[in-house]
Amino acid sequence: MSITTVARSASALAGLVMGVARLVASFVSAMTPRKTVLITGTSSGIGRAAVHHFSAKGYNVAATMRRPEAETALGALANTKLYALDVTDNDSIERAMDAASKDFGAIDVLVNNAGYGVDGVFEAMTDETIAKQFETNVFGLMKTTRAAIPRMRAQGGGAIVQVASMGGRLAFPLFSIYHGTKWAVEGFSESLQYELAPFNIRVKLVEPGAIKTDFYGRSRVFVGGERAEYRSIVEKAEKVSQGPAQTGAPAELVAATIERAARHTGRRMRFAVGAPAPMLLALRRLLPDSLFFAIVRASYGL
Ligand SMILES: NC(=O)c1ccc[n+]([C@@H]2O[C@H](COP(=O)([O-])OP(=O)(O)OC[C@H]3O[C@@H](n4cnc5c(N)ncnc54)[C@H](OP(=O)(O)O)[C@@H]3O)[C@@H](O)[C@H]2O)c1
Repeated sequence: MSITTVARSASALAGLVMGVARLVASFVSAMTPRKTVLITGTSSGIGRAAVHHFSAKGYNVAATMRRPEAETALGALANTKLYALDVTDNDSIERAMDAASKDFGAIDVLVNNAGYGVDGVFEAMTDETIAKQFETNVFGLMKTTRAAIPRMRAQGGGAIVQVASMGGRLAFPLFSIYHGTKWAVEGFSESLQYELAPFNIRVKLVEPGAIKTDFYGRSRVFVGGERAEYRSIVEKAEKVSQGPAQTGAPAELVAATIERAARHTGRRMRFAVGAPAPMLLALRRLLPDSLFFAIVRASYGL
């Protein structure tokens, strides 16, 4: 047998093996029931990108938002249905979860994404502004988490993915309240993982860096820009903190990481994604406070 004949036979065999493997994979995927994910805050940004990503990956997607009646595109995606859900409203959470469970049979993954950022001068913030920020980013996330637990326990397990932030483990100037919410989400979730593990419910934290979304535009609540006492720090911080509106990483990058975190069955809990999150979080871990604070001051010109 010549070398050419051997090579041809080997390549034919490899082709056959690949064909059989593809056939087996499509058979297994046809036999495996689709997983269902419920995502909060899907009208824009990371939540919206997550709907596209999970749908493309073959999940059933319960895309929830405050005003589904205003949404014209997401409902047309494969295996995707829209539901009204405001994370500050327990009734709307229960209604959306009941409807999604009825439509799809289960909720295997909850993605707690809804949230926004208050920034600016703390002294100038009203009780209402502070409360609303915590009602959404912290208590809203807790409400949806609490509603998902009995459903997941009854079905034998699931995954809860919290869209936290690199700002849940470090802090920048003039984001005191926003950081307060994201640090709360980190501590809450890290503790919760232990009590949910016996029910096979995994809790994961996705920690985005600077991501180009409406976070820096329509969703932003900026307070105290008019306060003369803080003019210098406000002007300096504004130059740095609004950069991601132009230069931030794409929301699709975070969406892919959310799905990876949802699938992850190992012990890893935190998934930093999007520059500068992985690098800054590593520095925050390694450097003493004094050195890290000096780096932050220098980068803001403070
Ligand atoms: N962009 C970043 O650089 C960045 C970095 C780290 C973490 N994050 C986090 O990523 C998450 C998503 O933000 P994004 O960047 O994608 O910003 P975004 O485009 O402004 O999206 C925020 C989403 O949250 C929704 N939302 C706000 N309040 C809600 C409520 N009470 N109930 C239900 N939905 C509500 C908004 O819905 P409406 O249309 O109804 O307002 C919107 O769909 C947030 O938790 C944010 O803190 C963002």
